[in-house]
Amino acid sequence: MLELRDVGKVFGGLQALQDVSLRVDAGRIHGLIGPNGAGKTTLFNVVTGVTRASKGSVTFDGHVTTGLPPHAIAWLGIARTYQLVRPFFELTTTENVEVGIAFGRGTRSGRRSDARAEARRFLELVDLADKHDHRAEELNLGERKRLEIAKALAAQPRLLLFDEVLAGLNPTETARAVELFRRINGMGITILMIEHNMRAIMTACEHIFVLHHGKLIAAGSPDAVSRDHAVVEAYLGRKDPALRRRKALADA
Ligand SMILES: Nc1ncnc2c1ncn2[C@@H]1O[C@H](COP(=O)(O)OP(=O)(O)OP(=O)(O)O)[C@@H](O)[C@H]1O
Ligand SMILES: [Mg+2]
Repeated sequence: MLELRDVGKVFGGLQALQDVSLRVDAGRIHGLIGPNGAGKTTLFNVVTGVTRASKGSVTFDGHVTTGLPPHAIAWLGIARTYQLVRPFFELTTTENVEVGIAFGRGTRSGRRSDARAEARRFLELVDLADKHDHRAEELNLGERKRLEIAKALAAQPRLLLFDEVLAGLNPTETARAVELFRRINGMGITILMIEHNMRAIMTACEHIFVLHHGKLIAAGSPDAVSRDHAVVEAYLGRKDPALRRRKALADA
């Protein structure tokens, strides 16, 4: 569905992405992990046209998207959430979702009343129906994150990119959000999620990509990735003596 080939991104002297090649298959929930500054958000920015790749190509459903502006990529069927959740605070939740609808393919009729009714359906899906007339500024963090998901869904994507949607949520809210990811995936929407919450990523994802210093260092099932030496080293650091001992034992 989505394919990156040798994607690189340079910021001044910093190589934020280096020759990243990966493939996201339709229908699955994929994870994108890596330590802070690994290049995860930059990869989302390149895929959604927010940032232009310095090299390489991105293909979505057979369309080369490299160089296309964000609205054209959204139109093709990719939506995302942002790491920093910034709803339109003064607008109601319904109006916020209407913005998502307008940014995507719109409604068939183009009528505002239809957009409003549709927005309500998306709010229902993320369990915010009872807050439909509340202003976004009145929501707590968990609710703002769900609103962000509703806005992304409103663009009617086939591929959804979540950038740390679970960050800051308590265990109950996290479990609820993972449940929501499964529901969304059940609607035929492919998901690629950036997450630092390992337990959530390991339970939600079928396939995980690991970035470190802008390079893809591993990809595979949660089980395979969590046992990968390069991944463990990237997270714990090479200087960890217990890890070095374990690695030495494993190598022996
Ligand atoms: N617009 C920019 N200009 C300059 N440097 C940038 C820019 N965006 C990102 N970077 C740098 O690129 C590197 C990768 O950043 P990125 O935000 O992609 O990391 P990340 O994996 O999302 O990290 P985190 O887990 O902290 O969100 C970092 O060193 C960051 O400082
Ligand atoms: Mg990030």
